[in-house]
Amino acid sequence: MAARKRVLVTGATGGIGGAIAEAFAAGGDTVIATGRSRDGLAELVERCRSAPGPVETIAGDLTDEAFAGELAQAAAPVDILVNSVGWVRHVPFLESDPADWEKSWRLNVHSVLVLTRLVARGMAARKTGQIVNIGSVLGDRVYRYMLSYAASKHALRGISRGLRLELAEHGIKVTEIAPGLVDTGLLDEIDHPEVLAAYAARKYPPLEPTDIAEAAVAATRAAPNACPELVVVNPMGQTP
Ligand SMILES: NC(=O)c1ccc[n+]([C@@H]2O[C@H](COP(=O)([O-])OP(=O)(O)OC[C@H]3O[C@@H](n4cnc5c(N)ncnc54)[C@H](OP(=O)(O)O)[C@@H]3O)[C@@H](O)[C@H]2O)c1
Repeated sequence: MAARKRVLVTGATGGIGGAIAEAFAAGGDTVIATGRSRDGLAELVERCRSAPGPVETIAGDLTDEAFAGELAQAAAPVDILVNSVGWVRHVPFLESDPADWEKSWRLNVHSVLVLTRLVARGMAARKTGQIVNIGSVLGDRVYRYMLSYAASKHALRGISRGLRLELAEHGIKVTEIAPGLVDTGLLDEIDHPEVLAAYAARKYPPLEPTDIAEAAVAATRAAPNACPELVVVNPMGQTP
């Protein structure tokens, strides 16, 4: 049996991050789960109660760099970092608010860079590790009403590529999992009538968070010399 790994999962109170945390715990790994909601983390621990792998929780806001530093220190040594934080406001561009552009950029891009650098330094010192970024199919395309979110996911695609270039020599793999539509709380905030109508007209059912968790865990089980770089997982029928 493979040695138990320490897996730090951000966004673990959410749909995709929560499913990823559960999947690693179910596989016997030690999970360090983080998100702002203490209740959400407690629910995750409850769901993983009978899992073979333990789940530790550390609550905080990842846009706070001091918290990111505390998290990286408390979670060390990290074998696998899963960056699953993310936020989107669905709105037509002409009605969009610069405060929302900034919010998605700070969380989806800047906070990922900050935490990744902190954790990757420890991995580099040990010459081993894997970073799994939960990007999006919007890493290389754009849908209506999600312009600034798509821009942040294009940036994350570039970050994943750049990290791969620089970190391979330190023994660190970098993988982007790029989901299409997944049924999570990310969609709960949609309230604009035009956006709701566009979603109602959709002809395919969304994926479940467990579909993405399966892809993320599989990407970390590749042979030592194999690096899954970009794994795109779309619901059947969600074509570009
Ligand atoms: N759902 C989709 O269709 C879809 C498709 C493609 C890609 N994705 C990506 O998948 C990832 C996970 O999204 P999801 O669908 O699982 O959404 P979600 O259920 O809304 O989860 C988002 C997670 O981010 C955390 N978070 C938000 N703001 C935070 C902050 N300031 N500090 C720390 N944590 C924060 C939330 O936890 P707290 O609120 O507890 O802080 C939550 O755990 C995101 O990167 C998203 O862009 C989603």
